[in-house]
Amino acid sequence: LKAGLLDEIAAAGDVAALEQVRVAALGKQGSVSGLLKTLGAISPDERKAEGPKIHALRESVTEALAARKAALEGAALDARLAAETIDLSLPAPELPRGSVHPISQVMDELAEIFADMGFAVATGPEIEDDWHNFTALNMPESHPARAMHDTFYFPDRDANNREMLLRTHTSPVQIRSMLRHGAPLRVIAPGRVYRSDSDATHTPMFHQIEGLVIDKGIHLGHLKWTLETFLKAFFEREDIVLRLRPSYFPFTEPSVEVDVGYTLVNGKRVVGGADGWMEVLGSGMVNRRVIEFGGLDPDEWQGFAFGTGVDRLAMLKYGMDDLRAFFDGDVRWLSHYGFSA
Ligand code: PHE
Repeated sequence: LKAGLLDEIAAAGDVAALEQVRVAALGKQGSVSGLLKTLGAISPDERKAEGPKIHALRESVTEALAARKAALEGAALDARLAAETIDLSLPAPELPRGSVHPISQVMDELAEIFADMGFAVATGPEIEDDWHNFTALNMPESHPARAMHDTFYFPDRDANNREMLLRTHTSPVQIRSMLRHGAPLRVIAPGRVYRSDSDATHTPMFHQIEGLVIDKGIHLGHLKWTLETFLKAFFEREDIVLRLRPSYFPFTEPSVEVDVGYTLVNGKRVVGGADGWMEVLGSGMVNRRVIEFGGLDPDEWQGFAFGTGVDRLAMLKYGMDDLRAFFDGDVRWLSHYGFSA
């Protein structure tokens, strides 16, 4: 019986077959279990003689089963490891890569260009009060310019009983910078602004960059040079031509609107040359009242300020034509303009 069982154990090809052999030998109805049961029916002397033999048989069979099981499991593991071999020399599958959004990219470029001219970056809250957004910029409560801003107001006032709103431009950062740092001052303030307006060229949220210089003896020539230098660096062209038109903003006096010349290439406007004009920014000499609201003496300090739409600058630079696409988050659109892998 022993030799037969050991042969069967050796012949079991997998764990399931081995289990069948185990049940046939050691299970309740098994051959070895049957032998053990016979011990109860025989005389004590016979039991003394037969008992150890039968127990030794059960021992051997149990050991052989365990050894065979370990061998089978080891072989199964080896086979799996062999099948799962990873070839480290194969190229990895390409993963989709994210990239910097064109607006962020343009804001970074602008910060870098202005840093070269000695401007620091200033920030202010997007949830503003009407004093910083309007009053201190020389737009008192009844001022008609307030109505032109399509402002998003909050229902509740703040602790100073000021009306709260989403800032409609980055100009309140002019006031915050003067109050915080005094003069002289050379800052840009890039950021989000909000107006209740939406079509192909307007989104309710868009981006502006503000510039403010406060120093002694500042005049329009400084403003023109700064804007020319900035636009040449941004559009990476020497043939940038500017046209300054008299305009009106409550916070600058005099105020100038700045157009940049363009050439038509395949029906598209390309910045450079002067076949036609596009308005790119608003600017002017900081109004005396605004310098006062900033806590400075306008007889001692003068300055210029400008503000422009970052989204529009990005569209012009990269030849995009729908502003809304910037905020749709469509990866196909972004990758078309080289902004995603
Ligand atoms: N704040 C103005 C606007 O949003 C732009 C501007 C800024 C004009 C600074 C003059 C000086 O239209």
